Amino acid sequence: MTEEDRTLELSSDELTRLIAAATERIVAHLESLPDQPAAATEGGAALARALAEPLPEAGRPWPELLALLFDEVIPVSFNTAGPGYLAYIPGGGLPHTAVADLIADATNRYVGVFAAAPGLAQIEANVVRWFCAMAGYPPESGGVLTTGGSLSNLSALVTARRERLPEDFLSGTIYASDQTHHSVEKAAMLAGFPAGRVREVATDGLFRIRPDELARRVSEDRRAGLRPFLVVGNAGTTNTGAVDDLDALADLSARERLWLHVDAAYGGFFLLTERGRSRLAGIGRADSITLDPHKGLFLPYGTGCLLVRDREALKRAHALSADYMPSMQDDPDLVDFNLLSPELSRGWRGLRVWLPLTMHGIAPFRRNLDEKLDLAAWAAAALRRIPGIEILAEPQLSIVAFRLTAPGREGAPLDAWNRELLSRINARRRVYLTGTMLRGRFAIRICVLSFRTHRDRMEACLEDVRLAAAEMSAGAPLPAPPS
Ligand SMILES: Cc1ncc(COP(=O)(O)O)c(C=O)c1O
Repeated sequence: MTEEDRTLELSSDELTRLIAAATERIVAHLESLPDQPAAATEGGAALARALAEPLPEAGRPWPELLALLFDEVIPVSFNTAGPGYLAYIPGGGLPHTAVADLIADATNRYVGVFAAAPGLAQIEANVVRWFCAMAGYPPESGGVLTTGGSLSNLSALVTARRERLPEDFLSGTIYASDQTHHSVEKAAMLAGFPAGRVREVATDGLFRIRPDELARRVSEDRRAGLRPFLVVGNAGTTNTGAVDDLDALADLSARERLWLHVDAAYGGFFLLTERGRSRLAGIGRADSITLDPHKGLFLPYGTGCLLVRDREALKRAHALSADYMPSMQDDPDLVDFNLLSPELSRGWRGLRVWLPLTMHGIAPFRRNLDEKLDLAAWAAAALRRIPGIEILAEPQLSIVAFRLTAPGREGAPLDAWNRELLSRINARRRVYLTGTMLRGRFAIRICVLSFRTHRDRMEACLEDVRLAAAEMSAGAPLPAPPS
């Protein structure tokens, strides 16, 4: 007989020491976030190669592993949790959620099936219900927490397909603006649609979908024998934070019998603010909505959300059972999450949202989001005062996009010039910005969304833009990054 091995069953002392040592490193790391570079990925490939290793037969001491992680691995990265991270769409990473994950993982209950953990499932159901109420959804709505916006968009697309198309769905067509996040096209690809079935609809001067163009494309496709079935509207695009006219999309979708999905992965939680509610007017008329708590609710990565106006539609698209499964709930108030999602086994995702919201209430989240709207407007006004800066997208939410112009520089050389400007801003390491292409022109974006970003860091950002722009105009060489 194999000898009994209890190494993995940590004693109370061992577990306490394990957590205490990790806590010490985590606290020091979080305290130093504002002083850490906004991004530091030099030598990343060499680090990754040095870390490749065969499966170890024996273990190594915990302090040594903590040192490896915190001293060598973690520092070589974008500082996505820091106040200077104004790139892509920042998250932030509420530490409360790290503690929630510790509880969820240590208790390791089974939340995919209501019968296995009724109270835990209810806590997650509460979170979904709060979000439905925020979106203005009716009582028969429902949803599920996912791992992120991409998975929410995938489940939404599959639900729309199951509701609006026959089993043979290959002639189905999807409509979304040319500013839509690529996760929508990826969802169509994964759901089995032929290439090109996502129609890229033109946008207006504010990067919002043009309803007239949308109507034209839909009728053109119907005439060609195709089956238009889904419109994806944007409540905050990744490029510029543009918000489509959601009421116009809802009217058109109703007329054309199309499923309306709104991708509010970035912009959705601005619904907590008065300005956000007025900018996202009409969102409650959508058939489904993607939200990303790991963006606008400041959670660490790993939590998205899909809301569906008629929760039975979500269930019809995802429910399947088997002989070995326990019985599921008939009461519509009691949720079996496995019936609403592609997942069966899953962690207690609800706790990571419920804990910070319940500890603090929603008020500080609302104030933080309001502050981000103010900061983006402030940044746009400050940018306008820098000689040569042209705003390419005014903030509709908390993103502003701009470039530096110069007499005699146009087209590709101007793009290259602005790429260099971006490198110079980032070389100072107080902020990390990223760029994008807007109607064929390279644009630098500032996206302010972290709960750790306040006016002081935005002032630093603007100072760095100003200095870098002045250097560019004077033709100065690129500065060496500070050590
Ligand atoms: C508008 C929008 N939709 C969807 C996504 C995809 O979300 P995730 O990265 O959580 O999968 C993003 C990500 O930035 C986004 O900005």
